[in-house]
Amino acid sequence: MTAYRHLDTNTMPSVGGAGGEGARQQLLWKDEASGATVAINHGPAGFSQKLRELLDQGEHRHYHDTVNERHYILGGDYRIWHYENVDAAPTQTILRRHTYLENPPRTLHGSRPHSRPDFATCLLVWNNGGGTSIFDPASREETPHVPFGKPWPRVNQWSKPIIHHTMEMPWMAHPAQKGWKMKFLSGAVERQAPAMLVSLPPDAGVAGTPKIPGGALRWLYLLSGDLGVTMTEGGKTETLHLKEGHFLHWEKDAVLSYGPGAASDGGCVAICIGHDLAGVRE
Ligand SMILES: [Fe+2]
Repeated sequence: MTAYRHLDTNTMPSVGGAGGEGARQQLLWKDEASGATVAINHGPAGFSQKLRELLDQGEHRHYHDTVNERHYILGGDYRIWHYENVDAAPTQTILRRHTYLENPPRTLHGSRPHSRPDFATCLLVWNNGGGTSIFDPASREETPHVPFGKPWPRVNQWSKPIIHHTMEMPWMAHPAQKGWKMKFLSGAVERQAPAMLVSLPPDAGVAGTPKIPGGALRWLYLLSGDLGVTMTEGGKTETLHLKEGHFLHWEKDAVLSYGPGAASDGGCVAICIGHDLAGVRE
């Protein structure tokens, strides 16, 4: 088994998602011990069948007791509502392409019957544990459904979401590579590594010879462009030509580096987790 996983999400198959008819999922990575996953969740315009059925009964909200859930929106207009506490009026965020949403544990969020996506939705989602499905009764300890008009004594301190409309964030200079840029999305929490966008210009060179050792929390997803990297494992090397929509995860026995020549011919933007394409970020 190789210690790295390179997937083309443009062509990889999907399976039925937890939301029933209309929901599809591409599972990119899973840690069996913790239940943590990286996945692309696809939903139809108007929500999937199970969410439609839930909303037919009225407004729905829940939280995740211990899991930190992070999302980068790839497409559509998913509507999510957040509540500062059980009594507060909710606020809506429309999750469009290039929005980042993080729900720390005990962030109260949900959906409302008259607020549904007009377009099919596509969300890159990664978390640090399992049990986050609202449709799985076995998840109810981790993901309680919170009623309206009643106190909820199990939580006395609610969390706030972290939301970035990343297209409106300025690009910052990359700390290690001249001419590269980055946008910082979120820092490390337990079993979640820092998240950032890294941009390489056309004909991007690489100063020095960065080598990024693998780890449980080391992956990237290419949002646009092309990126050439070299993977080394047990003395063997392979050059990977990553394109838009490709996913790469590498574990502790693999090392990412760059071969001779440009790392990117036409430039690229990548979502980077646990590294900044030049070194480890923990
Ligand atoms: Fe949730």
